[in-house]
Amino acid sequence: MAGDWSPFIQRRWSFFQTPRLIFWMSIFAALLLFLFFHSPPDLSPDRRALASSWDGHSWERRVLASSRPLSKLSASDGRGHLSVLVTGAAGFVGCHVALTLKRRGDGVGDINDAALLYKLFDVVAFTHVMHLAAQAGVRYAMHNPGSYVHSNIAGLVSVFEVCKAANPQPAVVWASSSSVYGLNSKIPFSEKDQTDKPASLYAATKKAGEEIAHAYNHIYGLSITGLRFFTVYGPWGRPDMAYFFFTKDILKGKPISIFEGPHHQSVARDFTYIDDIVKGCLASIDTAQQSTGSGGKKMGPAQLRVYNLGNTSPVPVSKLVSILEKLLKTKAKKHVQPMPRNGDVVYTHANISRANQELHYKPTTDLQAGLKKFVRWYLDYYSGNRKRLYW
Ligand SMILES: *[C@@H]1O[C@H](CO)[C@@H](O)[C@H](O)[C@H]1NC(C)=O
Repeated sequence: MAGDWSPFIQRRWSFFQTPRLIFWMSIFAALLLFLFFHSPPDLSPDRRALASSWDGHSWERRVLASSRPLSKLSASDGRGHLSVLVTGAAGFVGCHVALTLKRRGDGVGDINDAALLYKLFDVVAFTHVMHLAAQAGVRYAMHNPGSYVHSNIAGLVSVFEVCKAANPQPAVVWASSSSVYGLNSKIPFSEKDQTDKPASLYAATKKAGEEIAHAYNHIYGLSITGLRFFTVYGPWGRPDMAYFFFTKDILKGKPISIFEGPHHQSVARDFTYIDDIVKGCLASIDTAQQSTGSGGKKMGPAQLRVYNLGNTSPVPVSKLVSILEKLLKTKAKKHVQPMPRNGDVVYTHANISRANQELHYKPTTDLQAGLKKFVRWYLDYYSGNRKRLYW
């Protein structure tokens, strides 16, 4: 199964210079992945033709097969298996979450398209929706603001609309971001802090998402959990993130820019390893209460939650670089410069006590250990040995 993933993910990366293309490629890849998820590896030509249309009995059988839990494995929480619709399953966090759910025996379907979503809900009574599809990245928002509004606001509303209309309504878990803390200077960041000073359009669209979630919870009784991810990194990560392109540039001998804040303040991030994030996502699904509404009508108050998912130990970017230098056995050519005003903030630090209490979330991978796994994957992946299974 894992072998099927790499061609699409590689394709996505080769278009990396044009992030809009990446976005559409991801959606396209999500569609293809959805169809491949439960396909035998020796897909015959006529089955391939059937797989290209998403209507009819064959398509419905495939959706049902993919979303049907595997009865042989035991559920982690003793309340039976779940059927989870994962959006953004071709993206970084989504592909890890979808595979982990599948491995423990839950049924997983994935897609990001409103018409398809309605059709999917006709076929499967999803118990949960894990909404991870989004336009990510703080800096790219200055170049293509419309893509953020399209995915993070309009796309989120499409998902909530489909969920509120479904009968029974699924519980929704979705990806917000640590960037909602914006210019907040009180550290560590706690869910109770004010989040009304976003520093980028990306942050503003995620904050808008949290407010939209509040409205759908209030009007329709949808059970909604927003997860504020803090600088997620690891194998199959996003090439536009610093740890990723630093690795690439250090290996190439290309100079890297290390930004510092006002008064030579060092820039630091609460880097969170992907496996810890996946555990937080699954714990959110497992603790989500059912939505109370039905077919668009609220029957009573429903759960509305927000959690920080961080590592709770900020690391300065200079330390990130020195770890990479050791792992890559190569000295970086460092250019220290003042941070441009492009939406990035100087410092992030999660208070995770709420997630710890309610989700038993406890990150176990520090930056040194996580980067070691990332670098091993990176070197292997880019050595041309792309047929290997990484999962
Ligand atoms: C973290 O947040 C909790 C509430 O969730 C609060 O009680 C605690 O004081 C906070 N810790 C710090 C160090 O700010």
